[in-house]
Amino acid sequence: MRKPRKIIITSALPYANGDIHLGHLVEHLITDFWARFQKMRGHQCLAICGDDTHGAPIMIAAKKKNISPEALVSQLMDRHVKDFKDFHIYYDHYSSTNSKTNEKYCGEFYQSLKDNGSIEQRKITQLYCEHDKMFLPDRFVKGTCPKCGAQDQYGDSCDSCGGVYETLDLIEARCTLCSNKPVEKDSEHSFVSLNQFTDFLKEWVPEHTDQAVANKLSEWLTNDGLKDWCLTRDEPYFGFKVPGTTDKYYYVWFDAPIGYVSMTREWCDANGETVESFWKNKDSEIYHNIGKDIVYFHSLFWPVMLKVAGWDTPSKIFVHGMLTVNGTKLSKSKGTFINARTYLDYLDPVYLRYYFACKLTNTISDFDLNFEDFTSRVNSDLVGKITNIASRCFQMVGKNFDNELSSMEEKGREIFVKAQSMSESVATDYEERNFSKVILKVRDIADEANKYFDEKTPWKLVKEDKETTQKILTATLNIFRLMAIYLKPILPVYSEQVEKLFYEESYSWESLKTSFENKKVGSFSHLVKRLEISSLEKIIEASKQD
Ligand code: 2FM
Ligand code: ZN
Repeated sequence: MRKPRKIIITSALPYANGDIHLGHLVEHLITDFWARFQKMRGHQCLAICGDDTHGAPIMIAAKKKNISPEALVSQLMDRHVKDFKDFHIYYDHYSSTNSKTNEKYCGEFYQSLKDNGSIEQRKITQLYCEHDKMFLPDRFVKGTCPKCGAQDQYGDSCDSCGGVYETLDLIEARCTLCSNKPVEKDSEHSFVSLNQFTDFLKEWVPEHTDQAVANKLSEWLTNDGLKDWCLTRDEPYFGFKVPGTTDKYYYVWFDAPIGYVSMTREWCDANGETVESFWKNKDSEIYHNIGKDIVYFHSLFWPVMLKVAGWDTPSKIFVHGMLTVNGTKLSKSKGTFINARTYLDYLDPVYLRYYFACKLTNTISDFDLNFEDFTSRVNSDLVGKITNIASRCFQMVGKNFDNELSSMEEKGREIFVKAQSMSESVATDYEERNFSKVILKVRDIADEANKYFDEKTPWKLVKEDKETTQKILTATLNIFRLMAIYLKPILPVYSEQVEKLFYEESYSWESLKTSFENKKVGSFSHLVKRLEISSLEKIIEASKQD
């Protein structure tokens, strides 16, 4: 027996000021497929996530709704939890960064940076709105781009020329909340000088990220040099107050990743384990699954924070690309910015889980949800190739053999054994997050099974040779059973239905080693219906209204 691994996988913590949309689901599904696979292999794998609750945008969103930030984040968390559940995404622990545990760990991380001599106090000048009585984050200032003169650009970068600049350089800056002209105001903040960690990071990054990501980071590390990182924000802010100050808060990007540790701690407290057994243990593994837009935080700041505070750094950062829909960026006006809930109002989550798996590789390339392709993959493969054959076999077995299976016909057994022999290569695909390869392999098995079934014509044979017919059906259903086991991390609910049909316990990877012969099966009830393209049209219309 292999020794069970001890693993944590996290998804980036969603902000508690908006609903989960299909773009988020890419990441949460990767985490879910991977964690479910590890569990099937008998490993201890905790999938951890929670809401990212702090920061100025959440505070402002709450103010606009006339509710407290606490009330807003609690509403959003309920919605997030329900969306994940209804998409069959399972987290061992889903929590929030706005917790006592997280505040405690923030204090410890901060103190360790201080003790290490890595924090420096410095006065900086920022834009301040006297009407709203707050310093304005980049996204709350708009004005004319100092590089190209385009109007109505944000405080940090220009959409028109792509230029990046200091907020103070924006021409004719306006506060986006009240449209007044902000003033310049000084304030003192805590900075970490990241350059002192360049040598550590130059070594760490290539060992813990994939080549493409490491290349990008090495440009920052080598050419640009790392900018000092400001860890604090002025009040008003929704977050944790920095101990020993009266008006400073930890910046949300400081307290959010610490959430990974505090959420693990919460799980451990409830389950009789120690957080150290995951986060201070050379035999445990930690993976952060993130989008390529937040690599900077996870691969530069976060390892430094962990190292200084004496925790293990992640084993690897998994980075995925971004979702496009029908070839373009998610767009509210085109109705392709689709909320998880809107999708669920019209379609079975199984379709999206299957399709995302078809498309997902372990590279950082973006990938497209194309509605035609989506419909055809689901209808011709999942329904047409994989499910229909099972439905026909189950129905014939019910009608002619009183739901009784026999042994496998010889040629069918060969296909079954071949499909069984793929178990380690499919496992490698899962391990490497190459889900599209898993689907390709399952589709190949389905093709062989269909070819076999069509050649053997059991629906004709049943009239003359019942015994051989029963064996052919037994073999075909056994091949189908293997496909359901292979697909279980991707389609857990589908596979659970298959378990029930075979009166079996929850499938693990070990279940691939067995066959199902000379036993009774249950009566078939449908597993998955065809996807109607009209539902997609309805989703687009509904998303335009959202
Ligand atoms: O980009 C985001 O959506 C952030 N809320 C992710 C935070 S991940 C981590 F640092 F906690
Ligand atoms: Zn203002």
